[in-house]
Amino acid sequence: MVPNFQIHSKEDYHRIYEQSRLDPEGFWKRIAEEFYWQKKWDKTLEWNFDAPEIKWFAGGKLNITENCIDRHLADKSDQPAIIWEPNNPSENTRTISYKELHNDVCKFAWVLQKNGVKKGDRVLIYMGMVPELAMALLACARIGAIHSVVFGGFSAQSISDRLHDAKSEFIITQDGTYRGAKVIPLKPTMDDALVNCDFVKKVFVLARTNNPVSMIRDRDVWLEEELSGVSEEDFPAEIMDAEDPLFILYTSGSTGKPKGVVHTTAGYMVWTAYSFSNVFQYQPGEIHFCTADIGWITGHSYIVYGPLCMGATSLMFEGIPTYPDAGRFWEIVEKHQVNILYTAPTAIRSLMAFDKNHIHRNNLDSLRVLGTVGEPINEEAWQWYFKNIGKEECPVVDTWWQTETGGILISNLADITPAIPTMATLPLPGVFPLLVDESGKEIAADSEKTVSGNLCIRFPWPGMLRTTWGDHERCRTNYFATYPGLYFTGDGAMRDPQGNYRITGRVDDVLNVSGHRIGTAEVENAINMHTGVTESAVVGYPHDIKGQGIYAYVIFNHLHVDEEVTRRDLLETVTRVIGPIAKPDKIQFVSGLPKTRSGKIMRRILRKIAEGETENLGDTTTLLDPQIVEEIVKGKM
Ligand code: PRX
Repeated sequence: MVPNFQIHSKEDYHRIYEQSRLDPEGFWKRIAEEFYWQKKWDKTLEWNFDAPEIKWFAGGKLNITENCIDRHLADKSDQPAIIWEPNNPSENTRTISYKELHNDVCKFAWVLQKNGVKKGDRVLIYMGMVPELAMALLACARIGAIHSVVFGGFSAQSISDRLHDAKSEFIITQDGTYRGAKVIPLKPTMDDALVNCDFVKKVFVLARTNNPVSMIRDRDVWLEEELSGVSEEDFPAEIMDAEDPLFILYTSGSTGKPKGVVHTTAGYMVWTAYSFSNVFQYQPGEIHFCTADIGWITGHSYIVYGPLCMGATSLMFEGIPTYPDAGRFWEIVEKHQVNILYTAPTAIRSLMAFDKNHIHRNNLDSLRVLGTVGEPINEEAWQWYFKNIGKEECPVVDTWWQTETGGILISNLADITPAIPTMATLPLPGVFPLLVDESGKEIAADSEKTVSGNLCIRFPWPGMLRTTWGDHERCRTNYFATYPGLYFTGDGAMRDPQGNYRITGRVDDVLNVSGHRIGTAEVENAINMHTGVTESAVVGYPHDIKGQGIYAYVIFNHLHVDEEVTRRDLLETVTRVIGPIAKPDKIQFVSGLPKTRSGKIMRRILRKIAEGETENLGDTTTLLDPQIVEEIVKGKM
């Protein structure tokens, strides 16, 4: 059934948007009534952006898994909830119906409970893209435990940081995972992360690659063995408060270590389901294929929670777009008759380079909607996607959002509101964006010209973050203090006279590399771990495939014999400290960095040099040592 809250026309959109503006509480109350509650809420919204304190549906009682699974059992028990496509196409696909998902999640929840996991406990999940990963999230939610998924490409050090930050006493992991031609060890990396970590009580290990791993007595257990010994009965869903945390997901900011963004139960559920249904215009029976990894927010919201809450069939893919060859996505589309494909500009750009035969050998007629997320999409990639994949018949939804927003905030709605290449276009109902200048002054709507500024949101929406784990003040200073009374996204944007937004990218020291968020400070800290490094500065530069590449300027404290060997050493250091996704694309050795007299690095200049600008570098007279700029320009990679 299509929910009552699905928008059916452009006029409908404008009317509903206006309704949400005039009476946001009444608007969300009507939407929330379409979900399953153990007890209805008392107050729809209480909020204050200064503290910040945001409560949606306070007093309401529910469990998100009853909405994602149980309520579909009456009419969709045999419908596939999850279709899983393995890395290797010759291995069997798995199809898990809603009835089976219910059974599997209940068993998983029994295992967790038997091993001591309770409501409120943090469970760190470090796995590959297998159905058990989705089940692990849902089993935690069933029991009321807070999951904290760490992307399978992160290092032992990154796991350890997250483990300590949230004091996760339980871990769900896997022996290893397949990614293209590679086998990635997961349990061995976890073992490294767990050295000297004595608060972890249990590590559940799923066998996937069957590579030998070491198991610690009484702490490490095989998941299959545990699952075979538990009841087949329904696991009664823990009754949660609307504002109980559902999960923590770590994401990079402009300073310090990644912060644990906290999402709560009811608001996140309502937001992911509402946005999923409306942006993609999901119709019953359709197959939705989101190519993200569940290690990122896109996978949480649009592989697991949003689609399942709407009773959709969600396709999960273990591998990568270029294995065994660059036709893999298109093969999956034909094989599973995918209707909605949701991917990232970086994937589109990397596939554009290959022979079109990879596309033409597959029939893509089942596609109805194409989506993009994670970074600004350039016109060429947009047109290629629209023409070659959608055959000019499928709307492309350019969905702008963030880990912190829980779900899509600005996007066209498929075939409802117009798509404009490279523009995310209009806010969803209930989302009230504005642009401000550096001083926080609102940039007024202009009926004649396009304006630009820093993107903020002036009113809460149900899916927004509530805090950063263990450090509420950090949440306040990061998002709510730059412009008092507003949520600041960290993004710059332009708005045309019709109110359409184009997101231009981060205005802070956060990089977006292949759609992955990485803080420059984090990469610098990692580089500085190398004993030979005195200081470093990291900036982004435009990269044809990745969107942004990482450019590192490094002062090395002794004459290195071979620059290439040192470079390799530094890359290894970054891989060990953060993970391969944070490896710089270019490393330039310098003898100094451009600094102001007060010792601040002038990143503006470094950014320009990395971008290839060598002449108009702006005013360099305030620099402590203007000579250094010349030297850096000469040595540019
Ligand atoms: O800069 C924006 C960019 O990705 C950032 C959020 O990254 P993350 O929290 O990892 O979440 C990514 C998936 C939702 C934003 O601050 N971004 C995301 N979507 C778009 C985008 N930039 C332009 N257009 C988009 N559609």
